[in-house]
Amino acid sequence: MNTACINIRRLTLADAAAYRDIRLTGLRESPEAFGSTFEREHTRPLAWFCERLRGSHVLGAFCSKHLLGIAGFRIHEGEKEKHKGLLWGMYVRPDARKAGVGRQLVEAVIDHARDHVEVIQLSVVSGNERARRLYTRLGFVEYGVERKSLKQNGRYYDEILMALDLNPDFDPSLIRVQGADTAHLDELASAGIK
Ligand SMILES: CC(C)(COP(=O)(O)OP(=O)(O)OC[C@H]1O[C@@H](n2cnc3c(N)ncnc32)[C@H](O)[C@@H]1OP(=O)(O)O)[C@@H](O)C(=O)NCCC(=O)NCCS
Repeated sequence: MNTACINIRRLTLADAAAYRDIRLTGLRESPEAFGSTFEREHTRPLAWFCERLRGSHVLGAFCSKHLLGIAGFRIHEGEKEKHKGLLWGMYVRPDARKAGVGRQLVEAVIDHARDHVEVIQLSVVSGNERARRLYTRLGFVEYGVERKSLKQNGRYYDEILMALDLNPDFDPSLIRVQGADTAHLDELASAGIK
């Protein structure tokens, strides 16, 4: 696939039908990757998908007019949680995979999130190594496991909880000023105080 043609932008209400199509394809093709199900969403009217696009910042990766992939971002509600956002609904069509579309989508979510939150969180089903690798490559760190997070047809799925801190507290490289004791700073860094 030629990635030069990839254009990432926010989906608008005018994209609702294309969003519905790719979302339902994802739920049908990769059912284990999502908390929701095809059965739950395929009977929903277009207005329901419009509501999704209104309530979340959903990005789409386009090649020409074809919607190849999507990623959603939503800021948590409430005074004490609004510094956190959730990356959700990540999906790339099978014939567009392994070409960096997923990476570009996550990078675009991170770029957008920087202006709005301090931490991006996500969860990924524990067997989904491809998605885990993608998030890890882009700086997400695993901070927990939700055992039995999902249950379908009597089977449980654990979810790995991951987060990207967009505003780490302390970075020694920021205080490497002239005359600073760099050996001491390196010591702090290797002790994990950074
Ligand atoms: C997970 C998912 C979003 C990744 O999308 P993608 O577009 O294939 O992601 P990328 O292309 O950025 O990276 C995937 C792989 O392709 C490789 N790749 C990227 N560009 C490449 C290129 N030009 N040539 C060869 N390989 C390439 C990456 O290194 C990566 O390799 P890895 O799997 O060995 O780590 C996609 O597989 C998917 O939609 N899966 C089903 C739904 C899902 O799991 N969603 C996540 C829920 S948390």
